[in-house]
Amino acid sequence: MVKSWGTASLLLGLALGNFAVAEDVITSDSYFYGESPAVYPAPVGSGAGDWAAAYVKARAFVAKLSDDEKVNLTAGVSSKTGCSGSIQAIERLGFPGMCVSDAGNGLRGTDYVNSWASGISVGASWNPDLANDRATYMGKEYRKKGVNMILGPVVGPLGRVALGGRNWEGFSTDPYLSGILIGESVKGLQSQNVATSLKHFIANEQETNRNPTTDSDGNAIQSVSSNMDDQTIHELYLWPFQDAVLAGAACVMCSYNRLNNSYACQNSKTLNGLLKTELGFQGYVVTDWGAQHGGIASANAGLDVVMPSSSLWNSNLITAIANGTMKASRLDDMITRLMATWYYLDQDSAFPSPGIGMPSSASAAHQAVIATSQEAKPVLLQSAIEGHVLVKNTNHALPLKSPKLISVFGYDAYLPMTMDLSSSFGFGSAATRSALYQNGTQYVGGGSGANSPAYVDAPISAIQSRAYEDGSSVLWDFTSESPSVDYTSDVCLVFINSYATEGYDRAGLDDTYSDTIVNNVADNCANTIVVIHNAGIRTVESWVDHANVTGIIYAHLPGQDTGRALVEILYGDSNPSGRLPYTVAKTESDYGALLEPAEPAGIYEYFPQSDFSEGVYIDYRAFDKKGIEPQYAFGFGLSYTTFDYSKIQVSKKSSSLSQYPAKASILPGGNPRLFDTLVTVSATVKNTGKVDGQEVAQLYVGIPNGPIRQLRGFEKVLIKSGKSVTVSFSLTRRDLSTWDATAQEWLLQRGTYKLYVGRSSRDLPLETTLTI
Ligand SMILES: *[C@@H]1O[C@H](CO)[C@@H](O)[C@H](O)[C@H]1NC(C)=O
Ligand SMILES: *[C@@H]1O[C@H](CO)[C@@H](O)[C@H](O)[C@H]1NC(C)=O
Ligand SMILES: *[C@@H]1O[C@H](CO)[C@@H](O)[C@H](O)[C@H]1NC(C)=O
Ligand SMILES: *[C@@H]1O[C@H](CO)[C@@H](O)[C@H](O)[C@H]1NC(C)=O
Ligand SMILES: *[C@@H]1O[C@H](CO)[C@@H](O)[C@H](O)[C@H]1NC(C)=O
Repeated sequence: MVKSWGTASLLLGLALGNFAVAEDVITSDSYFYGESPAVYPAPVGSGAGDWAAAYVKARAFVAKLSDDEKVNLTAGVSSKTGCSGSIQAIERLGFPGMCVSDAGNGLRGTDYVNSWASGISVGASWNPDLANDRATYMGKEYRKKGVNMILGPVVGPLGRVALGGRNWEGFSTDPYLSGILIGESVKGLQSQNVATSLKHFIANEQETNRNPTTDSDGNAIQSVSSNMDDQTIHELYLWPFQDAVLAGAACVMCSYNRLNNSYACQNSKTLNGLLKTELGFQGYVVTDWGAQHGGIASANAGLDVVMPSSSLWNSNLITAIANGTMKASRLDDMITRLMATWYYLDQDSAFPSPGIGMPSSASAAHQAVIATSQEAKPVLLQSAIEGHVLVKNTNHALPLKSPKLISVFGYDAYLPMTMDLSSSFGFGSAATRSALYQNGTQYVGGGSGANSPAYVDAPISAIQSRAYEDGSSVLWDFTSESPSVDYTSDVCLVFINSYATEGYDRAGLDDTYSDTIVNNVADNCANTIVVIHNAGIRTVESWVDHANVTGIIYAHLPGQDTGRALVEILYGDSNPSGRLPYTVAKTESDYGALLEPAEPAGIYEYFPQSDFSEGVYIDYRAFDKKGIEPQYAFGFGLSYTTFDYSKIQVSKKSSSLSQYPAKASILPGGNPRLFDTLVTVSATVKNTGKVDGQEVAQLYVGIPNGPIRQLRGFEKVLIKSGKSVTVSFSLTRRDLSTWDATAQEWLLQRGTYKLYVGRSSRDLPLETTLTI
């Protein structure tokens, strides 16, 4: 992607001491024309799969609309109800409009809702059933408040950049794990008739330069361009979106970034090509807020609806049809896709009035619709619990055994100082948005992925309640960097966090202030357990090997039941079953070029470039390739029991498998033959310890000419102490294939595939091969 002549010329300019080199800095977008393939025309939604009935109704509806009414449906209007976005009503046809709102861990900007475990915690749970239950109960809250569409879930960013500010909103850096969890999330949310809007499509892997800006001289700087080849986008970034479309997702949100220097909301290759043709997507594409940069060009490239409003479309759409720049059928398709989602999710019958439970402002009266329910409580708590990953537990420091004195340290143990409907947006003031940590317990990250909880059960509150029940004592110091430790403490719990928010990439993977507190406590307390509420990867190099640090828990972002969930784990009422959904390096530099976001530089000062030249080698795929020993491997997590693996077995469905999938009509998700199970693998897992526990058995496949191993199956199973279970993994055609960019098909190579089963990407006791 890098234009080598340009770089060479720049270097020459520098060598000659000519720092201005003005003629070499690219100043026109035309320099990049043709980098993203043109894919036209926009495919017309066909009603494929289970969308047929919805399309019949949507087409009938659209046929009754005037041009002005059609145009009015192509963009949002300012919401009277406090929704993040609104589609206006067409009262003469009984269409009440739509309310769409943020976001991934619960409904934002309103009261009487729950704050659920964030995406990263769902990722750490490795529990598809729990992901489905969480989404179902979250969906009930959206529905009750009259929210037609949730602006989520997130699988972009996937987490390519370790310091990425929004990685916590998604599930995992692995596309397979993300794909399974988003598929279940879509099913759960849409089971409550609430549409999902998969975001951010696509390759929105950094916050730095996500939107256009101007430099101090007033020169425009465009959004960062994510540049990658066709194989990489298929095998990594598109993969989880494919699973979500397969699960029936109604809407896709195009992202702020550019791809091959073409804005994601007007990129015909990704919208018309990948999404609407290859994946057979039947719903509509909506912009991220303010992400429209092209007028009629964006409509022709496959964009359907603009949010929060459009200054570029409006009556220009009708003019463009008249002058031949756009087809009338494109406008009809835009609206048909929008309305089809409304019918597809039965929102035409018995769905609450749009935004009925959303407050428009503090002063305006709104209907206090209570969306929380007692039934949701077990799922809320379990989602919080299973997102905790225990990574160090020296001499069985945990679970705690009737401690008499518990000493609690660190700024992350107590409640944030304020909680109101607006402070949750951003979670911390603008001034602290690039902070490495936040005072107050971090139960969610910042930005549109945050919401206002019904309550927050802070760690210190839950510990105090437990002390009340147990008759034990608690001491605390939340503010000292070097607290004094009562030498009779049975355990010292140190609470730190690692902050992240939308709009900013993180400044580091650790911070000196937090590390100092941990070291100072550990120097004086022989049983120091560190709890990290981390909105992304958090390295621990300055104290991981401290002899007195006996326990480390990555608590992630558990939502409002954070304290209760933690106490269950600390005291052994729950056996930890979370596993890392990313790799923790020993030191930041082990992430190499994938540590930091790309910055505007050199001749690309006005057109920042992010070359994904590593291809599919991100996170553990990169660590494996480079032979770097991680601190904690992808998939790793401890339990209070132990598991043994034996008896790997492989069975192939057919002895002769075609190299490419048989041709078939495209359904939502793509060629259905991609999802045929070709191979099953099974193994026996035995709980060899003294307590019951859940294990996450993981299957990795070494596909010829690909990464050493890639996650292609997992099963979370509860195994009673002393008992064994058989786990089994189904490998589909897509799971075993690589993307053949020439054939534009998934290719099942002939050759030997390696299969590994075990506890993490680096602890795989069972190994065998498969020949295809
Ligand atoms: C970007 O360019 C690469 C290399 O030419 C190509 O393989 C890929 O399909 C392009 N992707 C997009 C979205 O334009
Ligand atoms: C289109 O929307 C505008 C702004 O809300 C409204 O004034 C106008 O009446 C609408 N047009 C039609 C035909 O409904
Ligand atoms: C057609 O109309 C559109 C929308 O107003 C405008 O952007 C475009 O330049 C026009 N094209 C021609 C050929 O007149
Ligand atoms: C957190 O609180 C401490 C005092 O307890 C203060 O020194 C520090 O600046 C605060 N940090 C942030 C990020 O607000
Ligand atoms: C561990 O804690 C004890 C206090 O219980 C202290 O005496 C000792 O020096 C600490 N060890 C280290 C390595 O700091």
